[in-house]
Amino acid sequence: NRFALILAGGSGTRLWPLSRTLLPKQLLALGGQETLLQTTAHRVAQAFSPTKTVVVTNEEHVFEVRAQLGGILPDVAAAVLAEPLGKNTLPAILLGLDRIVAADPQAVVGVFPADHRIDNLVAWGEGMDQAAALAAEGWFVTFGVPPQAPETGYGYIHRGESLGTGSYAVLGFTEKPDRETAEKLLASGRYYWNSGMFVFRADVFLAAVAEHAPVLYDWWQTRGQRPLAEGYAGIPDVSVDYGVVEKLDRIAMVEAGFDWDDLGNWEALYRLGKRDANGCVVQGDVLALDCSNSLFFSQGSTLAVAGIKDLIVIQTRDATLVCPVSEAQRVKDVVAALKDQG
Ligand code: GDD
Ligand code: MG
Repeated sequence: NRFALILAGGSGTRLWPLSRTLLPKQLLALGGQETLLQTTAHRVAQAFSPTKTVVVTNEEHVFEVRAQLGGILPDVAAAVLAEPLGKNTLPAILLGLDRIVAADPQAVVGVFPADHRIDNLVAWGEGMDQAAALAAEGWFVTFGVPPQAPETGYGYIHRGESLGTGSYAVLGFTEKPDRETAEKLLASGRYYWNSGMFVFRADVFLAAVAEHAPVLYDWWQTRGQRPLAEGYAGIPDVSVDYGVVEKLDRIAMVEAGFDWDDLGNWEALYRLGKRDANGCVVQGDVLALDCSNSLFFSQGSTLAVAGIKDLIVIQTRDATLVCPVSEAQRVKDVVAALKDQG
């Protein structure tokens, strides 16, 4: 009995100025026809019934999320749950589990971020079947992507002994290493990128929450006794990675047979975008003369660029970003500095 839980709540600050608190990455159509959320829901529907799919998002996005999922999920009002405020992934998953365990306490649950790009849907579906079988036996299942670069924006999974074709026991995790560590992990050949998708049995997961995050478990058990917003305000901000996954004993990893990208920054969109003859990815009202290997994006006004290379230039109605392609990760710092300025 499989259920899907789609997480659609983060704010996606690394794609500033396009994604803001009010318009996070999963609600944007980045180059395609559909938004990332819609693509995710279609993908999930291949391996999980749309009647058994729950979406958790922030209160401020709930109408937009329901509107986008209208044609994809049968009863969006019931399927899309609103958090009063963002408390990171563990509380969001617990909120979504509420409805799932009411239907089946031993349900096999797949958790999916709504803001990733995945190619090769057949392999993705096969990976889900493999993971669901392991989860039914009590394993907490992650999906490891063979790393292609020393990325510092991802978590890494340490692969242990084989559990069968394409699946392994997990020895441990290294969340968002610094550059030097990431290079070592990559060179070792035994570490994979953590794709952020998980499959587990609801009862196994809740027992782990009770043991490793007792404050959250208490909140979850007594959630019916007061309004959601009241209880939610007082709970800690915890990611599922730190709060539960890293502390489990029986963790498995299914090796991803599909291409995966978290589209975490502008560099990823440049890398995956459609390039013209000069190696530029261009979207919107842009005039580019003699430019090469750059990403230009404009929304709402004309952007003109001439004679530049290896740059990212993103223009929106009220903010502009310019940085080298190689420094796309620094948008985090830009957003933090802007926040400090108020
Ligand atoms: N509903 C809801 N509420 N969703 C949330 C919240 C929240 O408070 N916080 C985050 N999410 C959603 C995000 O929108 C995203 O889809 C997913 O949960 C993961 O959260 P991120 O904040 O993007 O995590 P991360 O990218 O830093 O790290 C995780 O994902 C990486 C892969 O993309 C970790 O699992 C890493 O180990 C992993 O490599
Ligand atoms: Mg992410």
